[in-house]
Amino acid sequence: MIKDLKGVTLAYDTEENCLVIVDQTLLPLEYKLLNLNELEDIFEAIKKLRVRGAPAIGAAAAAGFSALVNRINTSDVSEFKAQAERIKDRLKESRPTAVNLFWALDRMSSVLEKSLEESIENAKEALKNEALSIIDEDIDMCSKIGQHGAKLLNDGDTVLTHCNAGSLAAVKYGTALAPVYVAAEQGKKISVFADETRPLLQGARLTAYELTKAGIETTVICDNMAAKVMSEGKISAVFVGADRIAYNGDTANKIGTLSVAVNAKHFGIPFYVCAPFSTFDKCCLSGNDIIIEERSELEIRELHYTERKLPDEALVYNPAFDVTPAELITAFVTPDGIIPPAEIKRFLDCR
Ligand code: MRU
Repeated sequence: MIKDLKGVTLAYDTEENCLVIVDQTLLPLEYKLLNLNELEDIFEAIKKLRVRGAPAIGAAAAAGFSALVNRINTSDVSEFKAQAERIKDRLKESRPTAVNLFWALDRMSSVLEKSLEESIENAKEALKNEALSIIDEDIDMCSKIGQHGAKLLNDGDTVLTHCNAGSLAAVKYGTALAPVYVAAEQGKKISVFADETRPLLQGARLTAYELTKAGIETTVICDNMAAKVMSEGKISAVFVGADRIAYNGDTANKIGTLSVAVNAKHFGIPFYVCAPFSTFDKCCLSGNDIIIEERSELEIRELHYTERKLPDEALVYNPAFDVTPAELITAFVTPDGIIPPAEIKRFLDCR
């Protein structure tokens, strides 16, 4: 059993055949690993944000799917296929916005289809290998995002980020924070303003946790303070991650990203979206086609699930993401380099 994730956010323990994650709902107060190999436990871990962040959700779904399919006990190929299909469909119901979930499960499903032509045992082995490749590729893609993005940062710069798009949101380096980590490794002094990210405080709980652990100077602000901080000339650039990027470059990310982008445009601050290939969705033509997850009203009614803070009569609306139109984005930082929005269609057509 894996007892230490050694700097990664999740792993696939192929010996015990389970998905291992850090329970992010407990951070920063408690660091606890969960070993998961039951369908409803893996579903719940994704739905309840124990594992979260688009790339991490995709990698967790791939490892979880493989662990679950490897536990199917039948020699009947059609029954095996039917059970695997049910697992895939259930996991796809966990969260709607981050495309990485669907990308990973569809990729796993096509490997299953092909490898099953030989035997069930062959399919089980092929799925294990594919899940491990998805995990490795995520590490590699985020490391490349870091290398390219670091070129946009100068010594002394201050980055503003929204939500958590650091190592906890991917397998290792993260997306929006990868350039910060690489620039710091290169000896540049970079500091970060982290929006706290209401209602679930991913910025305050997770971004501040991982950045301070890495020795990066971090200032947490309430989401409604970002414009003020920008107006004071304190921000050199905004770096955010993404949950789904449409073919025209419109980008869904954590609720509040759109206001940050509008403010950045107003103050002439560059606004960068950092994402691996698994976050681009060619089939989604524009931001209008992106399904925005609506989450429980309790996330707003209660302060981080603890005490009531609204009158019961008040209604609550809790969209978890918003869409930033491509025209507010200065450039995408991808594993292949820095791509301006005007070139995004050409970039996606070549992939
Ligand atoms: O609801 P969450 O916490 O999964 O939302 C995460 C975000 O919106 C991140 O900013 C996004 O996934 C980019 S991740 C590298």
